[in-house]
Amino acid sequence: MAKREKYKVIRKLDAGGMAEVYEAVAEGIEGFEKKVAIKRVLPHLAENKKFIAMFLDEARLSLHLSHANVVNVFDIGQAGGTYFIVMEYVDGTNLKHLMRMLKERKHILPIEQSVYIIMEVCRGLSYAHGIKDSKGKKLGIVHRDVSPPNILISNQGEVKIVDFGLAKATSQLEKTDPGVVKGKYAYLSPESATGKEVDSRMDIFCAGIVLYELLTGQRLFLGDSDVQTIKNVRAAVVPDMLQYNPNIPHELDQIVRHALAKEPEDRFQTADDFAESLAHFLFTFQLKVTGFDIRRSLDRVVGDPGKDLDKQAIIDKFIEEEIAVFASLDNKMTLRTDLTSRSLAPGPREMSGLGSGMASPPAGMRRDSSQSLPQMYPQSGLHTPPPEPDVYEDDGSEDRQNFFVGLAVTLAIVTIILAVAWALGWIP
Ligand SMILES: Nc1ncnc2c1ncn2[C@@H]1O[C@H](COP(=O)(O)OP(=O)(O)OP(=O)(O)O)[C@@H](O)[C@H]1O
Ligand SMILES: [Mg+2]
Repeated sequence: MAKREKYKVIRKLDAGGMAEVYEAVAEGIEGFEKKVAIKRVLPHLAENKKFIAMFLDEARLSLHLSHANVVNVFDIGQAGGTYFIVMEYVDGTNLKHLMRMLKERKHILPIEQSVYIIMEVCRGLSYAHGIKDSKGKKLGIVHRDVSPPNILISNQGEVKIVDFGLAKATSQLEKTDPGVVKGKYAYLSPESATGKEVDSRMDIFCAGIVLYELLTGQRLFLGDSDVQTIKNVRAAVVPDMLQYNPNIPHELDQIVRHALAKEPEDRFQTADDFAESLAHFLFTFQLKVTGFDIRRSLDRVVGDPGKDLDKQAIIDKFIEEEIAVFASLDNKMTLRTDLTSRSLAPGPREMSGLGSGMASPPAGMRRDSSQSLPQMYPQSGLHTPPPEPDVYEDDGSEDRQNFFVGLAVTLAIVTIILAVAWALGWIP
């Protein structure tokens, strides 16, 4: 039998439609500890056998994904009648939160940073789309929900896609629990919104939606109702980006439109092609961008997430109780600390996983599986804030200000010394 891992749940991070995500610590031998994130399926959804079968199928598949731009999945477990996935903990934020913070400040990221984020997303997609089985046959992995909450940005400026394939399972809930998928329609592709079979080109379309939204600060297909949103996705009409951000070069506009082509055949056919075009754009326009720039933007826009976390630990006291129930639901999980001695911060609890050699999931569904000549575009020219919204930029004005203050003080001191020397007759 596979060795049981032990996890101490530290606190709840967030909740989506079908699961809750916790920060936890995996305890290894000799006190070795590793921070992990645990995604736990909401217990009432675990009753849906078809959903769980697909969820486990996809989760098991994601155990084999290992790439810098994909959140690693380490373990899958069962507890209290429901299931959980143990994955790499990404210390940072998600793109939805970053975009919301930017919007509140009426800012958008510099063009090259938005492009960089989507290039990194494409790297992760390209890896997953290309995975083959032992016989060299493509597994046909498709994410199906490339959307801002599923794109995590670490405090170090890394970009990682989370929840590979889980949207396929979630789509099973549409009939029984429509609330679960509510609000997720704005990141579908036209073919998925019309109930057709999807392939990896769906992810390219969705990455295109996210790029459009990053570059313009506007939601692309979101309507007043879910029905309207689906209609918008099906029509795939892409409004002029320049009305929102006049600094977007024509070449980039064309790339985004290519990714957002209504018919999959008219889009970039692979994530590599999409990423290559974006890289070519950056090169052509001499735009330098690295993860350090993303890190700086995150620092500026989101600040120190630790501050909010402390606050959350105090405010969300009910979470502690929830975790206690979570931990006591099944005797596979044992309480680590005394439940009666509660502190304000949620106390750690243990839960056990099944390791990568987990027991088989319930029987069920198996995986069905024109560029112009280079222009010397001054980098700062691209950053000129459009009237609405402004582009957030680290323009170094603070450094310049400090320099001039320093210069003025030095000049004043030199003048005083010269005046005193002259008065004392040291200099003629
Ligand atoms: N591995 C992780 N490390 C750190 N935070 C994570 C991790 N996985 C998820 N999160 C956080 O938890 C949030 C909620 O995730 P969750 O997947 O449950 O909801 P969602 O993405 O909004 O919706 P959906 O259920 O459709 O995926 C994410 O947006 C992210 O901020
Ligand atoms: Mg998610």
